[in-house]
Amino acid sequence: VSALGDRVNLSIENDVLRLLGFNPVTLITTVGKDGSINAAPHSWVTVVDYNPPQLLFSVNMKHDTYRNIMETREFVVNIPGVNMIREVWVTQRRFSYGTNELEEANLTAFPSDKVKPPRVKECKAHIECKVLWTRIIGSTCLVLGSIEAVSISKEMEKLDVKERAVALNRLIFFSYQKGENVRNWLFAEIGKIHILTERDGKVEIRSETV
Ligand SMILES: Cc1cc2nc3c(=O)[nH]c(=O)nc-3n(C[C@H](O)[C@H](O)[C@H](O)COP(=O)(O)O)c2cc1C
Repeated sequence: VSALGDRVNLSIENDVLRLLGFNPVTLITTVGKDGSINAAPHSWVTVVDYNPPQLLFSVNMKHDTYRNIMETREFVVNIPGVNMIREVWVTQRRFSYGTNELEEANLTAFPSDKVKPPRVKECKAHIECKVLWTRIIGSTCLVLGSIEAVSISKEMEKLDVKERAVALNRLIFFSYQKGENVRNWLFAEIGKIHILTERDGKVEIRSETV
């Protein structure tokens, strides 16, 4: 650790890199060429373009999700809420290839509109994607997907963007700690919304607890 005035350098390791984090968790569903369904939590997922709509995620090459992506080149990004924390955790457990994690977690698959991998019923939003390209960058592979369809549960249809964000109640992942016989996954949730309004060149910031 070296000092730079009032700054301190840290060694670059996993948990330090999570400073950038607070990544909302998604549940990615894929299918194998044998038709088996897979689901796994992914937090390194982001939209990278609106026009055309595209998103990028990274997947460890040892994972079943990677195998399925390479075999069938489709996936669904399902958006779980904080209420699904336990189920999301169950799907991250290491099951043998072909095990349907949705069944293990008591979650319900229902057909997608445009792709073979199913949507997860308990999730309130879903983004159906087809793989455009993959690129290995180390222990992980980047997957760029074209967004083919987006759906939300009916009860959210009439909500404005703010109400929708609150209703989604995203599960936000920010740390993982491993001890001798204990592991901690640290999550956060939305609690405050800040609205910056610019009117006639004047800026006003309003904060609301939600
Ligand atoms: C909150 C959370 C976020 C995760 N994010 C990612 C991720 O972005 N990329 C990744 O490769 N694995 C991620 N993982 C780990 C995988 O979900 C986990 O290793 C899983 O067992 C892989 O399943 P699969 O082999 O069925 O694909 C995450 C796990 C958790 C709990």
